[in-house]
Amino acid sequence: MAIERTFSIIKPDAVAKNVIGKIVSRFESNGLKIVDMQLKQLSREEAEGFYAEHKERPFFGDLVEFMTSGPVVVQVLEGENAIALNRDLMGATNPQEAAEGTIRRDFAQSIDANAVHGSDSPASAEREIAYFFGK
Ligand code: PPS
Repeated sequence: MAIERTFSIIKPDAVAKNVIGKIVSRFESNGLKIVDMQLKQLSREEAEGFYAEHKERPFFGDLVEFMTSGPVVVQVLEGENAIALNRDLMGATNPQEAAEGTIRRDFAQSIDANAVHGSDSPASAEREIAYFFGK
């Protein structure tokens, strides 16, 4: 299995709950290495650009509002099968449907404040890493 890189965001709800360390620990203890990381406040323009593929969806305004409501942690994770592994560790988009032991099940309260984002494909990972880290 090839070593991959994926992009991750620890969202404002999780940062506000002081669980950055607990979430990073899930990545590290499951074989993902943090190879780049930054705590930052997203501007409206950054959030709208990042989620541009969802701009026609009814929740787009709420999603941008939420993602700019406080600081986030943007990260590049590296490891074997990193994209799928990160999605498994995150759990389903809706925390109520997320499997036991996943990040969203343990740290998120609702579908609109669901603790983490992770790239869903190699193409997304490349685009999202370039969007925030320029490489
Ligand atoms: S996913 O993760 O792309 O498969 O899920 P999807 O359902 O396509 O959702 C895309 C992102 O939108 C967020 N989302 C919502 N935000 C606010 N309100 C509602 N109802 C809602 N439904 C979905 C969801 O958390 C996804 O964000 P990311 O950051 O990509 O995980």
